[in-house]
Amino acid sequence: MARENPVAVVTGAARGIGAASAARLAARGFTVALIDLPLESPGRLGEIPGPYRPAHGQDLDEAAAACGGRGHAHAADVRDPQALAKVIETVVAHHGSIDVVVAAAGAVAGGAPLWQTDDDTWRSMIDINLTGVFNIARAALPSMLDAPAPRNGRFVAVASAAAHHGLPQLAAYSAAKHGVAGLVKALSAELTNSGVTANAVCPGSTATGMLDTSAALYGMENREEFAVQARIGRLINPDEIAATIEWLCVDAPAALTGSLIDVDGGFRA
Ligand SMILES: NC(=O)c1ccc[n+]([C@@H]2O[C@H](COP(=O)([O-])OP(=O)(O)OC[C@H]3O[C@@H](n4cnc5c(N)ncnc54)[C@H](O)[C@@H]3O)[C@@H](O)[C@H]2O)c1
Repeated sequence: MARENPVAVVTGAARGIGAASAARLAARGFTVALIDLPLESPGRLGEIPGPYRPAHGQDLDEAAAACGGRGHAHAADVRDPQALAKVIETVVAHHGSIDVVVAAAGAVAGGAPLWQTDDDTWRSMIDINLTGVFNIARAALPSMLDAPAPRNGRFVAVASAAAHHGLPQLAAYSAAKHGVAGLVKALSAELTNSGVTANAVCPGSTATGMLDTSAALYGMENREEFAVQARIGRLINPDEIAATIEWLCVDAPAALTGSLIDVDGGFRA
């Protein structure tokens, strides 16, 4: 990391992969802005249909505290471009230009074939998982490009194995994650010669709250049933995804851009 006192923004940072990524970046010297849903949401912008329950405001405070003095909690919905613009404005005013963005916020809904998928499920999956990544990229990129050269900016989206596999009963989620793959590739092309890279990490079944929901949607007893899909014979730990994100943000060569990095326990093999 070239700059002293680097700054990172992480969405979906209250728990799971986002929280683990924020903690790792803080340990590497980043000041980290942790973004997750405000307490009064999701009511304001639409509920997420089905059993998925997002994090609480308290989770966000705890995740920020786990960053050991380098974490700052910001309540914002990634579906709300104005709210994200305000967060970015605050971060830049207090800490200077942004070096790293990790777009980890996501949600899962489905459980029925495409032809039985209702509008709320379709919309919420696209709005959170795809437009949410677009919104934070659009809000933060100008600040990343404002950093003095030589820049070392890193945009990392958390996509999914569903970015290249069609998951049954999760057509809306799969479509959104495929969209994230296209977004990151196009963004990397636009960032040619800028010193900022754009990549996506594609986790397989990872032991977080989201996987509990996926198990419920598939009528499984619990999320451990997903372990048979991975060649490692177990679920992935969220910190294993975060370790990859940390590497992408800090140690990976600038030649790595426009790529989808599978961390799926061999699911794709
Ligand atoms: N867990 C898995 O098996 C798995 C597999 C592949 C991809 N992913 C992806 O990893 C990312 C992180 O998920 P996770 O597994 O840590 O699950 P998680 O549910 O623990 O974390 C997701 C976080 O995003 C937040 N969030 C949801 N909607 C939001 C919104 N509109 N605005 C702001 N924040 C919002 C939630 O409150 C939560 O803190 C997601 O993008 C998910 O799609 C997870």
